[in-house]
Amino acid sequence: MEREKLKALLDDMSLQEKIDQMLQLMGVFYQEDMEGILTGPARNMGVGEEDIRLAGSILGTYGAAKLKKLQKEYMEKQPHHIPMLFMMDVIHGMKTIFPMPLAQGATFEPELSEKCAAAAAKEAAVSGLHVTFSPMVDLVRDARWGRVMESNGEDPYLNSRFAKAQVKGFQGEDMGAPYKVCACVKHFAAYGGAEAGREYNTVELCEHTLRDFYLPSYKAGIDAGAGMVMTSFNTLNGIPASTNKWLMREILRGEMGFDGVLISDFSAILETIAHGHSADEADAAKKALEAGVDIDMMTSVYSANLRKLVEEKAVDEALIDEGVMRILELKNRLGLFENPYKDADEEEEKTVILCREHRNLAREAAGKSFVLLKNEGLLPVDTEKKIAFIGPYTNNHEIISSWAITGDASSCITIEAAAEKVFDRERTTFHPGCPVLGPKEVKGLAGFGDAKPVSVPEEEQEKMLAEAVKAAKEADLVIMPLGEHYLQSGEATSRAMIDLPEVQMRLLREVAKVNENIVVVLFNGRPLDLREVSRLAGSVLEVWFPGTEGGAAIVDALTGKVNPSGKLPMSFPYCVGQVPVHYNAYVTGRPDNMGQVRFRSKYIDIPNEPLYPFGYGLSYTQFEISPVRLDGDAVTAKKALTASVTVKNTGERAGTEVVQLYLQDIAASVVRPLKELKGFRKVELKAGEEKEVTFVIDEPMLRFLRADGTVGSEEGDFSLFIGNSSNTDNQAKFRYEA
Ligand code: GLC
Repeated sequence: MEREKLKALLDDMSLQEKIDQMLQLMGVFYQEDMEGILTGPARNMGVGEEDIRLAGSILGTYGAAKLKKLQKEYMEKQPHHIPMLFMMDVIHGMKTIFPMPLAQGATFEPELSEKCAAAAAKEAAVSGLHVTFSPMVDLVRDARWGRVMESNGEDPYLNSRFAKAQVKGFQGEDMGAPYKVCACVKHFAAYGGAEAGREYNTVELCEHTLRDFYLPSYKAGIDAGAGMVMTSFNTLNGIPASTNKWLMREILRGEMGFDGVLISDFSAILETIAHGHSADEADAAKKALEAGVDIDMMTSVYSANLRKLVEEKAVDEALIDEGVMRILELKNRLGLFENPYKDADEEEEKTVILCREHRNLAREAAGKSFVLLKNEGLLPVDTEKKIAFIGPYTNNHEIISSWAITGDASSCITIEAAAEKVFDRERTTFHPGCPVLGPKEVKGLAGFGDAKPVSVPEEEQEKMLAEAVKAAKEADLVIMPLGEHYLQSGEATSRAMIDLPEVQMRLLREVAKVNENIVVVLFNGRPLDLREVSRLAGSVLEVWFPGTEGGAAIVDALTGKVNPSGKLPMSFPYCVGQVPVHYNAYVTGRPDNMGQVRFRSKYIDIPNEPLYPFGYGLSYTQFEISPVRLDGDAVTAKKALTASVTVKNTGERAGTEVVQLYLQDIAASVVRPLKELKGFRKVELKAGEEKEVTFVIDEPMLRFLRADGTVGSEEGDFSLFIGNSSNTDNQAKFRYEA
């Protein structure tokens, strides 16, 4: 529909009709028996029958038949027959679940994430959905925070590359095209900076840190054309994001040029009262509207207050018109005025969902997300050996993360199911060994309803352990699939202790007493304290929550069919006391690289370095990276430098190395990090093969928020590093001359 017609439509709408376009309800509010809804949740929320009739969008419901029916009935009652928007959290897959986003970050392959997002979009679109609340691009540094699993990690450059790729995957070049949905970049802004890693907690960031580290990935998603942005729950420097005019009007819409729909997070506008920023719901409505929030997710703050505020001239109706116009424009970009059902198709649901092509992609992505943390010769395994699989993830379908709410764990391939096809049946056994969680941890999972795991009685646990230890005694090699419960990461799952569940550590210790050949396969949503695991296991393979094809991909990696190439997108701390820990930290005036000296920036009880650093990951083969070569000694505004290395596969088998480029600005008006990731290349090499890898260093790469508040580069010396982890010391020097 042309923009003029949209404007004419807007002008013809009543005030309440416009306000209700800004209301988003759960899909469950639309059902045959409305009586229960009206006297129950609707009444509790202060939402009337008229609001339900006119709400502009819903979240949390999917299915072609269901949404087609809902759309038809809604449009018949909507005074201007405006179509409804259908939104859902399709975070890392719809029914075919891909590796969780932090795992996708470990692939260092944004193009692969783009394919995964496109496949998810196709399954979502045929299921009737128009918008996904993804990608979450929050920078994360604190492993205690449960939502690190939903991010691509601790680095602004890596996160930006993935943000762009995922938006492109979900939306393509035109979100109105078949099998595309609107992407929603979230959570704006800096939700990952929650104090002490505690969920929904305060975020205090100086503008320098906000701009240099936290904002780039949102901007990358917006520059990629994201049609929607979601506000975050947190305050940023004392003002809740959803009523933060500076953040939303000046930064998001002004500097970043975002002109799409800004939706609040779930009840986040109402929560500005609890924050102590809004005096009451009317005040919250006024402040959020003035901040430019277009949709109020699941509260009646807008629908119950804006009309009166306009009538009392406390808010300008033009602000409502502006927000509603953006909502209508989004519906228009999706083509809903011409076809309100878009791609909803019951027949295609049957052929597209969980199709072989998507499963193959899920298996490829999982295999590339695995990070080999340690390998003292036990991997890849010899399938002819006598092998015991011992651990609660041996035959566990729950490997799709807590943020795969449309997925079905029952569709997952378990390790056991995949191993049975490859390992010698006579010489391979499978044992859970213990439950995922002991009673203490189960108790901590309050509020998870019937998803909550049940405790296993003590005597049964002892039987499981005894059987496992017996099997371990008789095996040549023990493979131990261990990990967090999937409900221990994701929203509202902050953990002060980041260890494996005690019941599993006991299993590992008991097995280690009778067999020293242990391979640990780790399922987790966050970096964990792996000191004891790394000490007791000869090999450690990080598999995160790998998704629908997880078991198959893990067996591919265990047997060497796939050679692990993943690199950590987030530092694994030495212990929780070191958190937050991240590679791109500042040097300080007393760096600890001066040996055993007292007055240095260090701990007296642990090292400064994380157990496993950002960018780290081993392979089944070995790579050599030559010293850095530069084609000059200075970068100017007009002249770039080329840096190159030769990478050689010096091992016995093919493999892929992720060659990483880091820069350090030695002295600047604002201190700069010890290293900053500025580029990476995945290099596939056969045994003995070598290739040259080059990076171009230009002036834009050197820019940062300077002391005078402007963004730009400054003359001076730089160090340049090229290696296969952030702790590389393979360096060269150059100058920037303005
Ligand atoms: C949740 C999450 C957000 C999600 C939204 C809708 O609370 O914070 O990421 O998209 O509500 O489910």
